[in-house]
Amino acid sequence: MTTQTERSLVLVKPDGFSRGLTGEVLRRVEAKGYTIAALAVTTPTRKQLAEHYAEHEGKPFYEPLVDFMSSGPVAAVVIEGHRCIEGFRALAGATDPTAALPGTIRGDLGRDWGLKVQQNIVHGSDSADSATREIGIWFPEL
Ligand code: RTP
Ligand code: MG
Repeated sequence: MTTQTERSLVLVKPDGFSRGLTGEVLRRVEAKGYTIAALAVTTPTRKQLAEHYAEHEGKPFYEPLVDFMSSGPVAAVVIEGHRCIEGFRALAGATDPTAALPGTIRGDLGRDWGLKVQQNIVHGSDSADSATREIGIWFPEL
């Protein structure tokens, strides 16, 4: 039986991209030992984001989240490696950048700006099903 290599969808969100933190995020991914399988810079459309964030539709932060995520370019990245979904979530840290532990991307590089939605530098898929679905949204050619 062969081991299937796992993939995850990482986004460097508009806050991280505009602050010039794409390289730092990619550095941490590579230093951890994961491989970059695909990389693109794109300004997300609201349609793309509605699909990506379908699970959050109707929540109080949904509209501010779509406004934020469509506000500028993001780096969309497919990373690869055994257990990289769980591993990248650990690298990213907690959703709230104030609570995220130092040593994590959000804990080291993010902060609360007092806005309607948390700007927290990165997105990472939260399960194998999410990863497959999200990679299909951002990289339909893969
Ligand atoms: P992500 O999907 O971006 O990797 O983050 P996550 O799993 O840690 O968080 P999730 O619950 O999926 O929420 C998606 C994004 O919405 C913003 N958010 N803001 N109360 C708030 O202000 C709030 N709650 C969620 C964050 O940008 C979060 O990453
Ligand atoms: Mg999430």
